[in-house]
Amino acid sequence: MAFPAGFGWGAATAAYQVEGGWDADGKGPSVWDTFTHQGGERVFKNQTGDVACGSYTLWEEDLKCIKQLGLTHYRFSLSWSRLLPDGTTGFINQKGIDYYNKIIDDLLTNGVTPIVTLYHFDLPQALEDQGGWLSEATIESFDKYARFCFSTFGDRVKQWITINEPNIYAMLGYELGIFPPGVPHSGTGGYQAAHNMIKAHARSWHSYDSLFRKEQKGMVSLSIFAGWAEPADPNSVSDQEAAKRAISFCLDFIAKPIFIDGDYPEVVKSQVASMSKKQGYPSSRLPEFTEEEKRMIKGTADFFAVQYYTTRLVKYQENKKRELGILQDAETEILTDPSWISLDWVYVVPWGIRKLLKYVKDTYNNPVIYITENGFPQLDPVSLDDTQRWEYFRQTFQELFKAIQLDKVNLKVYCAWSLLDNFEWDRGYSSRFGLFHVDFEDPARPRVPYTSAKEYAKIIQKNGLEG
Ligand code: NOJ
Repeated sequence: MAFPAGFGWGAATAAYQVEGGWDADGKGPSVWDTFTHQGGERVFKNQTGDVACGSYTLWEEDLKCIKQLGLTHYRFSLSWSRLLPDGTTGFINQKGIDYYNKIIDDLLTNGVTPIVTLYHFDLPQALEDQGGWLSEATIESFDKYARFCFSTFGDRVKQWITINEPNIYAMLGYELGIFPPGVPHSGTGGYQAAHNMIKAHARSWHSYDSLFRKEQKGMVSLSIFAGWAEPADPNSVSDQEAAKRAISFCLDFIAKPIFIDGDYPEVVKSQVASMSKKQGYPSSRLPEFTEEEKRMIKGTADFFAVQYYTTRLVKYQENKKRELGILQDAETEILTDPSWISLDWVYVVPWGIRKLLKYVKDTYNNPVIYITENGFPQLDPVSLDDTQRWEYFRQTFQELFKAIQLDKVNLKVYCAWSLLDNFEWDRGYSSRFGLFHVDFEDPARPRVPYTSAKEYAKIIQKNGLEG
C-alpha cells in the first residue's frame, strides 16, 4: 500500500501541553496557567503544565524524537503569551521569538516542514480578563497577533493553522466551563465564542492574503474537530437524519461558513432558533453574521484541516435535549458502540476516518486535506509495547490508503497526535497520547519510543504499509 510520492507524515504537539517554562524568560500567564493554579480538582489531581515535558528547555530532545521517526512534518503551536506576554503587541518578548526561531530553523535544517498553530487553547490571561472569546475585542487582538507571527516567522513557515478546534474550545471553555475560563454560559457561551473565533480566523486569513501571501507564498487554514457519526439504527430515517445533524452541528458549523458561503448550516440555524423559542429566549441563541461579515468569512482557508479521533452512534430522541459538539440543541442521543476498540472513556473507530474524508471531499468541493491530529490514548499503567494502539494506527493508515486510492480524496498530510505523552488538559497526565513515553516523575523527562513510534517510523520510511 504505497502512498503518493511526497505524502506528508507528521506528528503534532501544542505549547501548553509540552513546553513547561510557564513563567520563564518573561512569558506572561495564559488562561491555563491561571486555571491550573486555582486548583479545585478541575484538572486530574490538580496537575499543571508548569513543567509538562519541559520542551521549553528540552527542544533538542524533541528534535531527536522527530528525527528518529523520520517525520516529514512537525505541527506545533506558538504560545501567544510567550511571544506577547499581555496578548498585545505593546510588549514583545524577544526570548519567545528566539525559542521558536530555533525550533523552526532546526526543523528546516533537518528537512522537516513546520506546520505552525497560532493559538491552541492558551489565550493570554490579560485578554481573558477583558472578556476573552465572548468579546469582539479579542478578534482584533488575534488579528494583530497573527500579523506579528506572519511577519516574524513567515519567511520560513509556509503552513499555518490559525485556531485549533474552535468548536471544541467554544464548548468546553465557554459553554460548559470545563476548560478555562471555567465559567459555564449554558446555551449561549459556546455559540458566542465560536462566532468570534470564526471571525478572528477570517480576519487573520485576510491579513495574510493582503499583506504577506505575495512574498511568503504560504497557506493558512484552521483545524476543525470532526468526529464521525453513524445512525444507531441504519434503517431508521430519523436516526440517519440525526446523524447528519450531528455532523452539521460539529464539522459543518465551522466549515460551512469558511469554505462555502459565510454562514452556518440551515439545519443549525433553524434548530437553534426553534429550541430558543421553546426555551423563552427573545431571539435565537445562535448569533447571526451580517451580510458584510458573510462576505468577509467566505473562502478564508487555503486547505482543509481536520482532526479525527472517533465515531459515535446517534439515536434520534424526540424532544430530548442532548449535548453534542458545541450544540445543546439536537434532539439526539449520542451512543458509542462497545464492540469498537475501547479504552475506558473512549471508543475508537479507525474506519470512521475514511467516511469523514469522503464527506469532506464531497461537501467541500474536493479540497486539499490535512489531518492535523489523530490518535488515541493509553491510560496508566502504560506499556511501552502498545500493540493495541499500534493496531489502531495501522488500521487507520489502511483507511487513509483506501480514501486516497479508491475515493480519490486529496489527502496530503497526516499528523499523529502526539509526538510525546503530554498534559491532556482536564485529564492532566493520566491520558497518554504520545508516540514517545515521557516519565513525568523524572526531572530529566526522558523520552522513550513506544512500539507505535517504531512501527510508524517504518511506515514513513516505506511511505506506506504492507498489504
Ligand atoms: C485535540 C486537541 O487539539 C489536543 O490538544 C488534545 O490533546 C487532543 N485532542 C486529544 O484529546
